[in-house]
Amino acid sequence: MRRSMLISRAARQMRMYSARPAARDTTGHPKVTIQTIKKLYAERKPIALMTAYDYPTAVACERAGVDMVLVGDSLAMVALGHDDTSQITMDEMIHHSKAVSRGLRSPFIVTDLPFGSYQSDERTAVENAVRMVKEGRAEAVKLETGRRGAPKIDAIVNGAGIPVVGHIGLTPQTAVALGGFRVQGKSLASAQSLVDDALALQEAGCFAMVLEAMPSLVAETVTRLLRVPTIGIGAGPATSGQALVLSDMVGMFDRFTPKFCQSYSDLGPRMADAVGEYKKEVRNGAFPVEGVHTYAMPAAAEESWRAYVQQQFGLELGGNKSEEGVASTVQV
Ligand code: KIV
Repeated sequence: MRRSMLISRAARQMRMYSARPAARDTTGHPKVTIQTIKKLYAERKPIALMTAYDYPTAVACERAGVDMVLVGDSLAMVALGHDDTSQITMDEMIHHSKAVSRGLRSPFIVTDLPFGSYQSDERTAVENAVRMVKEGRAEAVKLETGRRGAPKIDAIVNGAGIPVVGHIGLTPQTAVALGGFRVQGKSLASAQSLVDDALALQEAGCFAMVLEAMPSLVAETVTRLLRVPTIGIGAGPATSGQALVLSDMVGMFDRFTPKFCQSYSDLGPRMADAVGEYKKEVRNGAFPVEGVHTYAMPAAAEESWRAYVQQQFGLELGGNKSEEGVASTVQV
């Protein structure tokens, strides 16, 4: 690439490290509220939920205009490298939820209450839900539980006024008790149990429900019996909306990809390629390019500095002579 092209590309990038970053793009998507979600449901428009774990993934969701963003505790595996989701703590979930909230304006933000933060009693469940709203900036919390968790959901919704999304089917927090990451509701008894769970959670006050990894027929049954939207992940096309784990659908999780996941990109290998390219250019000296990735002194100061270094240390400095008006007009 010609030097002039490199310089103009650098100028276009306008990386203003010495000033405050420019205000984040606003996408113009209207704010999604619970009313919006109810309206989409009433109009039978499928609701799009995507997970996000930090500021950049949140910005991607904001730009795409998804309806709901879930700060899922799947981040324990896909962002923090744990083998399952059981170890992640309230403090860690709050840390990630805050970062996601800083990247979002429009989507409705739901954050998972992690394993151990709501199982013991209603008071603890409410305290942790309140923390997720106050500190994590969540608009609603999600609990992975069947009907035995209904009293906690009732306390959070009707006691504390915090909206709750239920989550039934494959509930990764209790995967050990389910015998692993397995599809649920495949037998008549297990399908009936899912319907009982769904009805109990709706009764307790959930305004939406995630249905994970269950036969499409069971998800359709639950969806048709409920008066609140169902968001399916591995639950077929009959649910009121769909969810996917961002890292799975963009190829950023290297360990496995669930059968139900549609692949939309291969960012993981592309990121590794980019890092490899960078490493090669560092080794062969192709990066950085003087005058493109560099800072120059004003011509007069450079002159004096060269003379001073020569006189003081006997060093003849390399580098291009400053072309004032080139490097120094690139805003860095
Ligand atoms: O934690 C998560 O990402 C989830 C989704 C699978 C819905 O709960």
